[in-house]
Order: sequence, then C-alpha cells, then structure tokens
Amino acid sequence: MDSFLIEGGVPLKGSITVSGSKNAALPIIMAAIAVDDEVSYTNVPDLRDIKTTIKLLNILGRETTLDSGRATVKNGELGIEAPYDLVKTMRASVLCLGPLLARRREARVSLPGGCAIGARPVDQHLSAFEKMGARFDLDHGYIYGSCPDGLKGAHIRFDFPTVGGTENVLMAACLAEGETVLENAAREPEIVDLANFLNSCGARIEGQGSTVIRVQGVERLHGCEYAIMPDRIEAGTFLVAAGVTGGELLLKNCPLDDMSAVVDKLRSAGMIIEETPEGVLASCGEGGLKCVDVNTRPHPGFPTDMQAQFMVLLCCAEGSGLVQENIFENRFMHVQELVRMGADIHVTGSTALVRGGRRLTGAPVMASDLRAGAALVLAGLAAEGETLVQRIYHVDRGYERLADKLSAVGANIRRVKEED
Ligand code: UD1
Repeated sequence: MDSFLIEGGVPLKGSITVSGSKNAALPIIMAAIAVDDEVSYTNVPDLRDIKTTIKLLNILGRETTLDSGRATVKNGELGIEAPYDLVKTMRASVLCLGPLLARRREARVSLPGGCAIGARPVDQHLSAFEKMGARFDLDHGYIYGSCPDGLKGAHIRFDFPTVGGTENVLMAACLAEGETVLENAAREPEIVDLANFLNSCGARIEGQGSTVIRVQGVERLHGCEYAIMPDRIEAGTFLVAAGVTGGELLLKNCPLDDMSAVVDKLRSAGMIIEETPEGVLASCGEGGLKCVDVNTRPHPGFPTDMQAQFMVLLCCAEGSGLVQENIFENRFMHVQELVRMGADIHVTGSTALVRGGRRLTGAPVMASDLRAGAALVLAGLAAEGETLVQRIYHVDRGYERLADKLSAVGANIRRVKEED
C-alpha cells in the first residue's frame, strides 16, 4: 500500500493545471452506454475511478481505451451486468443502470453497499425508474431491473436533489418514450456537463443547472467528441493549499464560475483570489487567515466534497469556526487524524467546532476516504515536520498525479511504498 511522505512548512509557489473533472467524467463516459456509435472524450483525468469505469464498460461489451487524456468508447454488443467486484470499489458504477435500462430494457447491477462516509442508498434512483415503467427485484445482492415495454417519460420529483439520481435518470430519459420532467433536480455543474454531452449526441434536454429539467425522448443517440469540464474540487483543494502554506499559486484551467461558494468562503477567510489572463491567482492576504463558519449544501451551496479540505484551512486560521455537514451523515473521519496532528476540533452530531490558530505538527495519519485523504495531505503541507499519509489509494481515486503536481510548485512530498 502506498503512502505520501510530506515534509511540511514550504510555501507553495508556481502554477498548476487543473485536470478534467472526475465527477463529470464518470457519468459522461458511462453515458456512452446509451449511445449507438463510437464516442470520444478529451480532458479525461487518469484516475483510479476512471479506470474502474473503463473496466466496467469493457465488461459490458463496449471496448474502451484511455490514452493521454483521450478516451474512446467503441460500439459493440451490450451486456447487462455490473459485477460486485467493480461496484464495491466504486459506488458510481450504479450509474450504468439508467443507460442499460434505456438500451437493453434490463440490467443487473450489484447493489452498492454502505461506504465510509455514510449509507448512501439508491432508493431515489430506483423509484424514479419505477415511475418510468421499470420493475426491480433483489437477487443475491444484485438489483435486477427490467422494462420489457421500454421506459416511458414520467414526472419525477426527487425528495432530495441527488446528484447520482439526477444523472442516472437523465441518461435513461433521453431514450424514453415522451417527456420526462425532473423536479428538485440536482444543479451541480457536472450535471450540466452531462446534459451538454447528451445534447451533443442528439438528446433533447432543457433546464440543466436549474431545479427542473425537461427531457424529450429521442429514438437514438449518435456519437460525438466531447471535452470534459475541469475539476472544481481539485481546483478548490489547490486554492486551500496556497492558503495553508502561505504560498501563491496560479491555477490554469480553473472553473472559477462553478466555484462561487468555495471562493467566497476562502475570501472571507482572508485569501486573495483573482482572475488573471493566465489563470486564477491565489494567495493568503497580508492579514493572515481567520476562521469562518461553513455549511455544506447541494450546489450552488458549499460542496460537501470541499468540507474536509476547508477544515484544514480553519485549523490554520485565527479564531474559531463551525463546520456543519448536511449531505452525508458520517463525513468527519478526518477529524481524529487532524487532532493527532495538533488540531483542536470537537464534533457534536453533524457539527464540528474548529478552534484555529495552532501550528499543526507532522504525524503518521490514515486516509479514510478520498476527500479526507486530500485534507490530510493539505495538513501535512502546512504542518511542521514529517507527515506520512497512509492508504492513499483513496486519494488516487480522485486526484491526478497529486504528488507530482504539488512537487512542481515546491512541496516536499513523495510517494513511498509500504509493506502491509
Ligand atoms: C455525488 C458525488 C460525490 C458528492 C455527492 C454530493 C459523484 C461520482 N459523486 O455522489 O462526490 O459528495 O454527489 O455532492 O459525482 N441519497 C439517498 N437516496 C438516493 C440517493 C442519495 O438517500 O437514492 C442521499 C445520500 O445517501 C446522501 C445524499 O443523498 O446522503 C447525497 O447523495 P447524492 O447527491 O446522490 O451523491 P452521489 O451521487 O452519491
């Protein structure tokens, strides 16, 4: 198992290019299942979750390759089964359900279990497909879904604006008969990117980015070439890196317009973030960092995927701040590790009180999930002394060449192999 060994305390300086978005690439590549012809994508990040998605498409009979940021999905005979071995490593595998039901009228997808950050059920995906005419059975840990007469357009109102649910139904609705209306839909920029991709393939989707999305079903989707949007969470992580190390970073390809909630909070906390012709320039203001409160919300609110990283910034800032996690019920697992590095954080239910103004100290710590792992890397960069972040396979799921990118701007970080 690999770890990151970090010698902290170096202010980062230089420029970093933001990679393609993991959370956009996953559904958009999966959406190729719904398309009849060959599809190609550019700006695809080379990540473990993307490799898992490619493996899944290959198992499903769509020959898929990834080379230097370019993925190609060939046409082929489509299978119906997403096996447990893949789904257990990546919950987003369940996103093949919608396009498979639309194309094959049946699908057998392993039921994703709980995961480290919460139960994460898929009940809203399933009830939406039921409204569209699908029936589901649970069969030896697999969801078997079928719609022998094809999917029919329906009026769907989500109880909660689920990102994956909105994406899954969107992919299916493109090929359903008639109109589908999604109310209380998630508004994340990755959903807009997915809808734009599907429209480039001939789908008729309107309202993406708002709470009501309307889809007129079409007979078939045709191939296209599509560039994946940049990763706003990776970009946000680097902005925090500039702040906690007291450095100055220029982010190229940074999707600032999609990051308002994060950028507003960083500015309130004392960071200077400016758009320049070369990219987004971020540094810590002269007054230093000060604590602010953060509440995670569906987009356009503050993203839960930036909560752990932001907490590290609060640890390094003056004063105290409250972090309220409203999306996942168990997403404070980085707290105990940060406390081991000298942070002063108290958790009560879904709220964490961070008392800042302490210099973190390096320690061996363990990543429990993707963003928790990113937070520990940030803490290691800010800390005095040596930090060993273990179980970085979590980080590899969502950050492309993280150690290389950080080293290039002066960080003292390297990947080390460790015996189990
Ligand atoms: C996606 C992102 C993830 C991000 C999350 C919230 C991808 C691959 N993953 O995850 O990085 O943290 O959005 O922004 O894009 N829920 C239900 N029933 C459902 C579906 C969801 O109760 O059928 C609950 C979940 O348990 C969770 C909340 O709704 O508490 C949000 O989940 P959802 O928006 O669906 O997140 P994901 O699509 O899993």
